[in-house]
Amino acid sequence: MKIAMVGSGYVGLVSGACFADFGHEVVCIDKDQSKIDRLHDGIMPIYEPGLDQLVANNVKAGRLTFTTDLAEGIAGASAIFIAVGTPSRRGDGHADLSFVYAVAQEVGQNLSNEAVIVTKSTVPVGTGDEVERILRDSGTAHRVAVVSNPEFLREGAAIDDFKRPDRIVIGAEDEFGREVMREVYRPLFLNESPILFTGRRTSELIKYAANAFLATKITFINEMADLCEKVGANVQDVSRGIGMDNRIGSKFLHAGPGYGGSCFPKDTLALLKTAEDYDSPTRIVEAVVKVNESRKRAMGRKVLDAIGGHDGARGKKVALLGLTFKPNTDDMRDSPAIAVAQTLTDAGVEVAAYDPEGMDLAKPLMPDVTMCSDPYEAIEDADAIAIVTEWDAFRALDLARVKSLAKAPVMVDLRNIYRPDDMRERGFAYTSIGRG
Ligand code: UDX
Repeated sequence: MKIAMVGSGYVGLVSGACFADFGHEVVCIDKDQSKIDRLHDGIMPIYEPGLDQLVANNVKAGRLTFTTDLAEGIAGASAIFIAVGTPSRRGDGHADLSFVYAVAQEVGQNLSNEAVIVTKSTVPVGTGDEVERILRDSGTAHRVAVVSNPEFLREGAAIDDFKRPDRIVIGAEDEFGREVMREVYRPLFLNESPILFTGRRTSELIKYAANAFLATKITFINEMADLCEKVGANVQDVSRGIGMDNRIGSKFLHAGPGYGGSCFPKDTLALLKTAEDYDSPTRIVEAVVKVNESRKRAMGRKVLDAIGGHDGARGKKVALLGLTFKPNTDDMRDSPAIAVAQTLTDAGVEVAAYDPEGMDLAKPLMPDVTMCSDPYEAIEDADAIAIVTEWDAFRALDLARVKSLAKAPVMVDLRNIYRPDDMRERGFAYTSIGRG
């Protein structure tokens, strides 16, 4: 089966490479000539473990190709995925659908056979209806169906998430759409991945509901962590204690500096806008968005508290370890590290930072921060070390070396990767999240 993937960014490229690996013939299409040129040279536009090898294998096998020519790319494809960006629109928080609609238009004008058009991008409820209208108005003579098939890929684990999904959600309004999608995902049925067929609007909402629920879970445990600090309880034990209840589940209960990334912040905002448009407020999600936003700067203040508070911190130096919104990615979008760094520099603190993959993207977002080439360089002469992202490389720092390099052995661990009793024994003034 031939599949066309319009948009060769994070979702499009991972999905395209995985479909090819399952044996489909896949063409990844993108308007960005330099991106396509680099892909031809085997250079990935994003950092995702295993992706370069997966792409190389499938290009070599002749199942995966790249082009900037949409008409040529979609010719003969039974399924055409739209996997372009839907960023938050500046000013009002609505998802910006201009890229999705532009692709729908171009697909309609260039279709040379019947096809199912699949929205893979995260799109608000009702977008499929509009895509269908655009295709109809484009005057195409071919049979089309518009299907919603949201992705649930985590950055850093995207290939595994694609190949072994908890579920596949397909929102289709007719049998033609369902039939083609069954064929697209046939290799995964063999892996016994559950597949849920729903209506198109339901499928569009499932994606937002899933992300909003996960964001709520994180925010809930973050607030419990704050309470733990006040009452002398341990949030990690609280997480374990509640997570062992199957109705709650143990995942997404790690307290930290607040969620960031390309999905949760943008999708929670877009869900609020949909709720507003339909006059059906989702007050819990409203609270989650507010609490998470204020948490990021509060984390900066937590670091300030460790070096003498807002007034005593001026002129001191903090080493920030980890800048990306989570490990195993170079993604800086809505990373808590941005607000932490800003809070520190606003208070006159000198900030030196290190991240294994995020430095290039971080630099323009944190112009006042000195970027270092390894953690120890950042730590030299620091009055405190703040761990903001739980990269494996920070889990086994040479603590004796850290102590001898830093001006003071002060550590603020915003990801709870060290043990408080152990750190105290080693002579560190150590604070973390929700642990007494
Ligand atoms: C998320 C969803 O998991 C995925 O299904 C969706 O398709 C896209 O959005 P991603 O943004 O890649 O994926 O990262 P994820 O691992 O979900 O983490 C999101 C944020 O939540 C990160 O900032 C992370 O540090 C934070 N988080 C996650 C916590 O603070 N605590 C947790 O327990 C889990």
